Amino acid sequence: MKREIIEILKDNQSKFISGQIISEKLSISRAAVWKYINQIKEEGYVVESVSRRGYKLVFVPDVPTYEEIKDNLHTKYIGRKLLYFKTIDSTNIKAKELASLGESEGTVIISEEQSMGRGRLGREWASPKYKGIWMSLILKPDIEPYYASKITLVAAAATAKTLINMGLKIKIKWPNDLVINKKKVCGILTEMSGELNKVNYIIVGIGMNVNIDEEEFPNELRNTATSLKSEFLKTFSRKEIVAEIFNNFEVLYEEFKNEGNIKSSIDICRENSVLLGEEVKIISQNVVKKAKALDINNDGELVVQYDDGKIGNIVSGEVSMRGLYGYV
Ligand code: BTN
Repeated sequence: MKREIIEILKDNQSKFISGQIISEKLSISRAAVWKYINQIKEEGYVVESVSRRGYKLVFVPDVPTYEEIKDNLHTKYIGRKLLYFKTIDSTNIKAKELASLGESEGTVIISEEQSMGRGRLGREWASPKYKGIWMSLILKPDIEPYYASKITLVAAAATAKTLINMGLKIKIKWPNDLVINKKKVCGILTEMSGELNKVNYIIVGIGMNVNIDEEEFPNELRNTATSLKSEFLKTFSRKEIVAEIFNNFEVLYEEFKNEGNIKSSIDICRENSVLLGEEVKIISQNVVKKAKALDINNDGELVVQYDDGKIGNIVSGEVSMRGLYGYV
């Protein structure tokens, strides 16, 4: 009902609409209208209420709810069911729970903050309230578990494309980070539940630092993490970014499901890679090897040349990588 009232207020934006008219349109009592208006205000909308004139919407917040993204959303199923939370432990945890209970492909869990946001390798993921995009997509592709890791590249390509199309200079650090000026701005955590030859579900968790001010980053992260706002010195619309990520993701994911390849995603990852041509360290099970990153092959693996001249293919998800300098 809240959604319908927001819609009515938006259709009448900058003029008053009476509680009576809203209550008649929705067949609810005026007291119920008042109750919902209060809930709407709690979401950050500013609604003026004047007795005998009614309600007027004067400010629409940048909240990534379905209501706010739907006009920019062109997908068939990604993000069409968007569960919005003010606070949550972790959107990945919630997504896993719902996916295992039968939630369908394309449903997204998004939260304004996370108390237990997690990154790769069990690391903590800071998710301050209203400042970023913390969300998880539920996917149920009919694929062999081996191919699941490719979805990380699809997500990296979709998020990168979104920011690049906005004119931002960002790079992809294979396989799951977006970086600006060698600092991380976005991370992707792909988790899977499956059996030997069957995927039950895949959760793609995306964490993007959007409007975090530089001084808000803890000291130990300042050299390695950044946000769109700290780099480009302006506030970004999270709801527009979210819609565009879904639009781009669905196209690239459909290619994967229908054609069995992720060529377009790989092209995006290759063209915008921060690693290719660079000396990197490959850290796998506490063994560190130096190598040069040569290419991303058609399977989405990183092709590297080790110091002894041997060529190797690194499967995404298998290793953790750090450049020889700084974070990248
Ligand atoms: C990484 O770079 O280590 C991956 C970070 C992934 C963070 C996102 S935020 C939304 C989702 N929920 C989580 O707990 N983690 C992912």
